[in-house]
Amino acid sequence: MNDKLIGGGRDIGSSSEPLPHQPVLYQQVLDALRPESGRDYLDGTLGAGGHAEGILKASTPNGRLLGLDRDAVAIQIAQRQLSPFSERFVIRQASYQQAKKILREIGWSHVHGILLDLGASSMQIDEASRGFSFMEDGPLDMRFNQQEGTTAEKLVNSLNEKDLAEILWQYGEERYSRRIARAIVKQRPIHTTSALATVIRQAVPGYEKHLNPATRSFQALRIATNRELETLSLSLNGLVECLYPGGLIAIISFHSLEDRIIKQFFKKESNDCICPSEQPICTCKHHATLNIITKKPVMPTSEEINQNPRARSARMRVAQKIG
Ligand SMILES: C[S@@+](CC[C@H](N)C(=O)[O-])C[C@H]1O[C@@H](n2cnc3c(N)ncnc32)[C@H](O)[C@@H]1O
Repeated sequence: MNDKLIGGGRDIGSSSEPLPHQPVLYQQVLDALRPESGRDYLDGTLGAGGHAEGILKASTPNGRLLGLDRDAVAIQIAQRQLSPFSERFVIRQASYQQAKKILREIGWSHVHGILLDLGASSMQIDEASRGFSFMEDGPLDMRFNQQEGTTAEKLVNSLNEKDLAEILWQYGEERYSRRIARAIVKQRPIHTTSALATVIRQAVPGYEKHLNPATRSFQALRIATNRELETLSLSLNGLVECLYPGGLIAIISFHSLEDRIIKQFFKKESNDCICPSEQPICTCKHHATLNIITKKPVMPTSEEINQNPRARSARMRVAQKIG
């Protein structure tokens, strides 16, 4: 059932080696989706396949999983990681925005559970040549899929100062967004992660303890480069349509704007009427499609954060499709 590997990449070792990305909220994801044999699952952000492996194990012997990722290297790593389950998974290099179309292509009508674990993986951040990290020198790429779209380098060198500042403020909550944007425009062309990190460091007045001054700007540029918030907003309706009635969707986010998009979508979809509150009679004809399972987002324990500091801002929300 497996598709052929797509794209090249480094040698990734055997599935018995430690995962290059530690899955966050691992047990909480399994508790939320309650995988069972004979059921079908979608992991829309496969990464190294850590969560997918948990879903396949928990749904032994007959559960199936479709795994999607925009990143060719992640696809290759996950393919290797999941090889013990060879007859039970399909992997495609694609955005989760394409999930409905791909389910149709592989002949699955719906799935019983969906996971999105948003953002970048450790192996993307740790690989200098991908350009996600201000700690390593590399090209300013930052694309999840290196075969399509605009690089961070293009954004940094072509956007006007106002638009750059807006991106840094909106997506990075960077309070020195204007100063940094001004410095970038003055110093460009900028081609590498270290050159950009230096420009940012010189533009901000002081250092925050425990936070590199480039952290927020790099996060903002990654989100803009991959259009992460637009993709999430545009995908949620389609993902719910992929679920069987009673099916569960769990979404892990790492950014307050992502969490707000998910929270508002779940709230809207759990209401029969979405008319403005001041309107006395309902005219919207909206019908609830979801029951919210997590009134408050599920967060990592302090133990998990100690073991894996990258989990610290994770928030998971879960909803169930109305039957
Ligand atoms: C945090 S990692 C997922 C880790 C994974 N849960 C695991 O256990 O290894 C996020 C992954 O989502 C991928 N990604 C981001 N946006 C995506 C999109 N719109 N569609 C598909 N994959 C996406 C990234 O390339 C990255 O590999």
